[in-house]
Amino acid sequence: MRRTKMSSKLLVLFIILLLNLHPLASSDPDPVQDFCIPDTKPGSIRTGRFTLFPCKNSSEATPDDFTFAGVKYPGNFTANGFSAISVGPTIFPGLNTLGMSFVRADLAVGGVNVPHFHPRATEIAHVLEGTVYSGFVDSTNRVFAKVIGKGEVMVFPKGLLHFQMNVGDSKATIFGSFNSQNPGMEKIPFAIFGSGIKGELLEKAFGLSAEEVLMLKKKFSPKGL
Ligand SMILES: *[C@@H]1O[C@H](CO)[C@@H](O)[C@H](O)[C@H]1NC(C)=O
Ligand SMILES: *[C@@H]1O[C@H](CO)[C@@H](O)[C@H](O)[C@H]1NC(C)=O
Repeated sequence: MRRTKMSSKLLVLFIILLLNLHPLASSDPDPVQDFCIPDTKPGSIRTGRFTLFPCKNSSEATPDDFTFAGVKYPGNFTANGFSAISVGPTIFPGLNTLGMSFVRADLAVGGVNVPHFHPRATEIAHVLEGTVYSGFVDSTNRVFAKVIGKGEVMVFPKGLLHFQMNVGDSKATIFGSFNSQNPGMEKIPFAIFGSGIKGELLEKAFGLSAEEVLMLKKKFSPKGL
């Protein structure tokens, strides 16, 4: 009798623990159907920035809904020799509800992917071509960085600052995969100097003069993105 009481108490405790642990382990929700190709016909529901589309009848889905050719070639390069084509469900509808997305990134010789992070996803970066100094910084400010080459992979844990630079003598191409359909991205220079944070705060935070802060604000204003 005592024993049964004891074990049912333990069971309740275990269930409470499981319920509490669950949010820690959560990410994109698990799909409840094979796939959901968004039906973009007029009549969809708009909520603020997001548009919620119903799923197309699955009998209307075709192989083209699940293939994508938009990463065959590099995108447009920035002044620091970087190009990225980010692919999520808005441009590749077959990804919708699958909890994944990806990016093709190209770096010219010496090109830099500036320090940034993805608040909602871990990234696996696979070097398809070239030689890349690649790394991330953990929450104790320890840097994990190394030069990796064609065929090698680096993982950037969710939410941690990471960066890449082409240190080879030819172009580099990287394919990055995310475990969220909407990983989000904050690029540090733009998030800090291009976001409209009060100059006085930035002067104090970084020990810069008003002129230096103005110069950086100009350099990283949103149109520079
Ligand atoms: C989906 O399409 C099939 C075949 O055309 C049809 O039988 C079915 O009723 C449709 N389902 C819905 C929910 O409209
Ligand atoms: C590159 O820039 C051109 C001109 O602005 C634009 O039409 C094109 O869509 C861009 N390509 C990509 C992959 O963003």
